[in-house]
Amino acid sequence: MPKEKIAVVTGASRGIGRSIALALAAKGAIIVAVDMDRASTEAVVAELQATGARALAVVGNVTVTADVENMFEMATEAFGRVDILVNNAGITRDGLLMRMKDEDWDAVLNVNLKGAFLCARAAFKVMSKQRYGRIINIASVVGQMGNAGQANYCASKAGLIGLTKSNAREMAKRSITVNAVAPGFIATAMTDALSDKVRTELTAQIPLERLGSADDIANAVVFLASESAGYITGHVLSVNGGMYM
Ligand code: NAI
Repeated sequence: MPKEKIAVVTGASRGIGRSIALALAAKGAIIVAVDMDRASTEAVVAELQATGARALAVVGNVTVTADVENMFEMATEAFGRVDILVNNAGITRDGLLMRMKDEDWDAVLNVNLKGAFLCARAAFKVMSKQRYGRIINIASVVGQMGNAGQANYCASKAGLIGLTKSNAREMAKRSITVNAVAPGFIATAMTDALSDKVRTELTAQIPLERLGSADDIANAVVFLASESAGYITGHVLSVNGGMYM
């Protein structure tokens, strides 16, 4: 295992993904930042480089097989290996079941679940040759407990937990660990959209009495990506302020 790890982070240009990229870079990792929009992906890479880190921007959509293969080709061409994959890219298209459109179901399942499958499959090709890897999937508390108005999102995140455990079993013999982090409600663009009333009601359900920060999630990812977590696989680490136990 080289000291300088290569980490592919999807959805890296803002929110939780950006914090994960910065936190892994602060621990010495080289970051391959993947997102859909060139300007914001290059902006986060510039931010990483300004801290002294090495980083590469890759524009791509995790639902497109060719884009995913390109991400791993670019990463291995530039740095020779991929040690860490963080499947963080995710979307919501909320709505009550009765009114949920087919395209809202498909879009959420495609990004949140199929995207993670495509990236894990591509990562496995590289990591199995190395006989080393860490895959960390960003799930959600609502994938564990359900949430009215989010059938598509909850199903995608519950599916991601099943994917995590299956991949963990399949990849273990190659010394690749696969874990999930299940964030509670985290202050990002995704939750900025909530009304004050909903935010107050949500906070009342959190024993630690606050929304989490993107750094709370990044810290958990850094741990699972570290050597200290080498005997942990197939685990779902809740980072939710006690909201679901
Ligand atoms: P965000 O919306 O701020 O950032 C998501 C990023 O993913 C964006 O930069 C977006 O461009 C990128 N993305 C979306 N679709 C993509 C695709 N097809 N290919 C590549 N990139 C794509 O979201 P946030 O809040 O930072 O969430 C990050 C992850 O954490 C998501 O998986 C989300 O479901 C999960 N999460 C967030 C929670 C929260 O309270 N904010 C709670 C629980 C889980």
